[in-house]
This record gives sequence, C-alpha cells and structure tokens, in this order.
Amino acid sequence: MCGIVGYVGSKNAPTILVDGLSHLEYRGYDSAGIVFYENNKFNIIKTEGRISNLRDAIPFESPSKVGVGHTRWATHGVPNQVNSHPHKQGKITLVHNGIIENYTGLKKELGNYTFNSETDSEVACALIDKLYNELGNMEEVLEKVPSMLKGSYALGIVVDDEPNKIYAIRHKSPLIIGVGDNENFIASDVPAILNKTKRYILLDDFDVVILSDEIKIKRNGNFIEPIIKEFDWEVDQTSLNGFDHYMLKEIYEQPDVVRRTIESFDTNEFPEFTSYEKIEIVACGSAYHAGLIGLHLIENYTNIEVSIHVASEYRYKKHNFNRKTLVIIISQSGETADSLETVRIAKENNIDTLGIVNVYGSSIARDVKYLIYSKAGCEISVATTKAYLSQITIMGLIASKIAKLDKVDSEHLIKTIVSVIEKREIYDNIANSIYTKEHLFFIGRGIDYYLGLEGSLKLKEISYIHSEAYPAGELKHGTISLVTPGTPFIAIVTDESIAEKTISNIKEVKARGARVILLIREDLFEKGDYYDEVILIPRLDDIYQPLATVIPLQLIAYETAKKRNCDIDKPRNLAKSVTVE
Ligand code: M6R
Repeated sequence: MCGIVGYVGSKNAPTILVDGLSHLEYRGYDSAGIVFYENNKFNIIKTEGRISNLRDAIPFESPSKVGVGHTRWATHGVPNQVNSHPHKQGKITLVHNGIIENYTGLKKELGNYTFNSETDSEVACALIDKLYNELGNMEEVLEKVPSMLKGSYALGIVVDDEPNKIYAIRHKSPLIIGVGDNENFIASDVPAILNKTKRYILLDDFDVVILSDEIKIKRNGNFIEPIIKEFDWEVDQTSLNGFDHYMLKEIYEQPDVVRRTIESFDTNEFPEFTSYEKIEIVACGSAYHAGLIGLHLIENYTNIEVSIHVASEYRYKKHNFNRKTLVIIISQSGETADSLETVRIAKENNIDTLGIVNVYGSSIARDVKYLIYSKAGCEISVATTKAYLSQITIMGLIASKIAKLDKVDSEHLIKTIVSVIEKREIYDNIANSIYTKEHLFFIGRGIDYYLGLEGSLKLKEISYIHSEAYPAGELKHGTISLVTPGTPFIAIVTDESIAEKTISNIKEVKARGARVILLIREDLFEKGDYYDEVILIPRLDDIYQPLATVIPLQLIAYETAKKRNCDIDKPRNLAKSVTVE
C-alpha cells in the first residue's frame, strides 16, 4: 500500500526521498512522486510506474533540504501521473496513505476548489488548505482535521509559507518519525529510514507532528516529550546480499529465524492459556494459514476450544464472547486494517487479546494486551515466507507450552530445515513440469491441507498460476470433475494418522489422468504408480513437521514464478501490508 517518506536536514532532499521510497517499494505501488523546496518554492515531480522513472526525473544536484515523497497504490482513480501524489491545493501540498471515507461529501462542500485528480487525497488537501486560510496556523488546522476527515490517513504535509517544516498526522495508517543527526524523517515503515538512522519515535493516532531541525509532537493539545526508541533490525536486512530476489533471500534466512523465534520465546510474558475456555484466532492471508496450523495444534494438544476466522469476515460477524475468550491476532506487518479492527472489537468487549506480530511498534503490537514478536526481522518480499515460518514456530511453541511437552530439539530442527532448503535442484525440476500450466491443485488432509492452502497462495501470488487447495477427501464432491489427463496435483502427506486415506484420494485422481507431485514424509513413503514425481520430507516432531513441509512449497512457487519471468518480489496488484479495508 502507499508509502510515505519525509525529510528535513542538510542533505540533498530529492535524493534522500527517492532512496527512502525505493526501500518502500516492497509495500506495493504503481506510481511515485516527491515535493521538495528549491528556488523559493515547493516543486512537485511525479511519475507513473517504477521508482526508477522518478529517479530519472529528479534533479541530480539540488540544494533542497526539505521534502516529502510517496509511493501510491491506487484506491481512488486509476494509476496515472495526475492521480499520483503529492497533491497541491492553494498553499498546501500533501501525500496521503489510507482512505478518506467521506471525501465525496467533502468534495461537494469544497465547491470553490478545482480538482485535477480522482483521488480522495486531493480532497483532504483542499480541506486543509481551506482550514489554513481560515485559521492561519497549521497546528490548529491539524487539531481540527480529525473531526472532519473520516477513514484512515497518514498525511505528510508542506505549506508554502513554512518552507523549513513538514507537518504530519496519522489515524489508523502507519507513520513513524526517524531521528537522525541533524536530520529528521517521517516514514510509513522502518526500511525507508533504516540506512539513515536506527532511532525512531512511535506516533499515536491524531498526534500533530511539526518536523524541522527539531521534533515537536502535540498530543491532546499539549506538547509531549517523545520517547526515542532504537530498531534492532540490521541494514543488510533491506538489501539483497547477492540473492536474485528478496523472497529467496528470506527463504534462506529461515533457519536463523526459527532459532531466534525459539530462543526468544519467553513464557513469562504470556497469558495463562489454560484460564481461557475459548481461543479465537483471527488473521488474513498467510497469517491466517499460520493460524490454521495453530488451530490444528492447539486442538490436538489441549482441551481448549479453538476457532479461526478471516479478519475481514470476523469484523462483521456476530460475536458470542464470554469473559474466558482469548482472541489471538496474527500479523506480519501489524498494520493490516481488518486485523487491527479485530483488536478494537475484542477490546471493546473487554476480551483479552494476544498479538503475534513481526513489525516492532506497529499498530497491532501496540494495541494488544499480550504480545509475542515473531523474530523474522524485516521482510521485504510481498510473498511472506520467513514471517510465516516464524508464526508457525510460535504456534508449535504455544501448543507445547499448554500441553507441557518437552523442549524442542532446536539444533536438529534447524539442521533439518537447512537440508530441505538445500534440495533446490528437486524444486527446480518440479517447477519445470508445472510452469507452463494455468491450473493446479494442492490436496491433503488436516494439517497437510492447511499447508496446501499456503502453498497454493504462494504459487498464485507470485506465478499467477491459478491454483486451489482442497481437503483430499472433499474432491469427489465436485472438484474431481476438473481432472483431465495431465492436470497437475501437488499432494501432501505428512500426517501419519490419515496418510492411507490421503493416498487413496491421490490414487483416485491419478486414475483419472492427473499428474501427481507427491510431497511425503520420508518414513511414510512407499514406491508405487500413484505419483509421477516425489519429494521426500524429513521427519520431525509432529508439532514442528509443518516447518519442513512448507519450504518445498515456497521454493516450488519461487522457481515456477522465476521460469515465468514474473516480478517475484513485487507481484502485480499486491501490497505487502494491506492498510485499507
Ligand atoms: O501483515 P499481515 O500478516 O497481516 O498480512 C496478511 C496478508 O496480507 C499476507 O499474509 C499476504 O497474504 C501475503 N502476501 C501472503 O504471502
């Protein structure tokens, strides 16, 4: 989704802004722009498409020391130069991340303004200009804005009359302040500023920010002394380090991620799980798939009733909370709008929340009652891999904590994960056999079906091959009609208790001509004519088996997308963090 970076300092602002934006590319965008002060005025440069277009358009040498930049992920109006940010109305130029829900009504009220774009953001810009003309003071304007704008917004604003300042405000959209040496930043996300400073300030909703050579933050009408924190992410997490893609780099980081996740799992920080009668897991996308693994493990290893929900559905469903419900929210970014809303709903009902979140200081991390940080570090690839792995590790750790199981043998686990990643040639061969296909099925039962869902999502999002994951036993209730000679199936068999049943289902599709790629736990494998290709998965403790099983699925998706020449780290239409509904 949209990304914001702003700069006030003593260096070349356009270059710093474009560099910052390039580190936000992973969030997903379709156009980009900057505003910077030079020759006694604010200048705007906007380009459609990649940041490289913007880089070509900005002045190489610039005396400008102040500016704001933006990557746009279209919501209102097609991706083009006019709709891209910054927008200017009167004396105000701004960039916006979020959605202004009442922009149509506001636009009518702002009839004196001429709007060039189709965006809601330009309407917010006109509103702020109108208020500025009336009040003559930006602080007061920004204190009034929350009562007039509905929806979500992070705004970075410059005013013609104050060329040395940036103003900012946020509501439900992420925005942090970066504190450098004689330079200050605003940014949507850590990577935008990580190569400039590690010191940052978190903002509350509606904080009014005035950024110059000093940082002023007004909260509820009073200036506050901000708390400066320090990121523990390393700069090299935001560079490729010799890998072709961030996705591949992040897959290779997984052994370390699992180690960190296990080592940092501090049981003292958690709620007493057994005091809850009901656990509701809520998340989106891959985080939801990680939740499914949690559902399976907690159900199997404890007596607590567990349910799972897609956050965009959960927020609108009827809730039967009782005081003994714990809501677990899983999110890499900690900013996913629907997941964040889940926290609000639970809190409103006085229900305890536990967040499993990767990004430090993100909205969900700050709003939940209990928090476990997943230790994936900075994840750049839109297709999540290492954050998912960290989430399912945490699910295993939680289940074993409740069930009072022995500590995991992390050395063996990590060695096994490394050995699975290293079988690249096998995944490449599988990719060769599927990359020309347009449809594919994943089948499995129980936890293997849940892993199939994740494998299917990975393949869809980066290779654009249509795929569906099915519970193997459900196929004959309709979907098996789609099987024709050569239809590819990836069949997952790691759950011993149900392996025979799944193998029967595999034989059913094989008998109808399907081309079967069998992913099977090595000790369950028996040679036969029910598969075409086989990948043997080393055996792990049942609780941690998914960690080894999902990696081939990640790498098959990766190799397949590569053969289809897809833009692996920035798949079309997708954003890394979905901050709008
Ligand atoms: O940041 P979150 O974990 O809340 O994001 C949830 C989904 O948007 C995310 O997992 C998405 O499905 C990934 N692109 C999948 O790879």
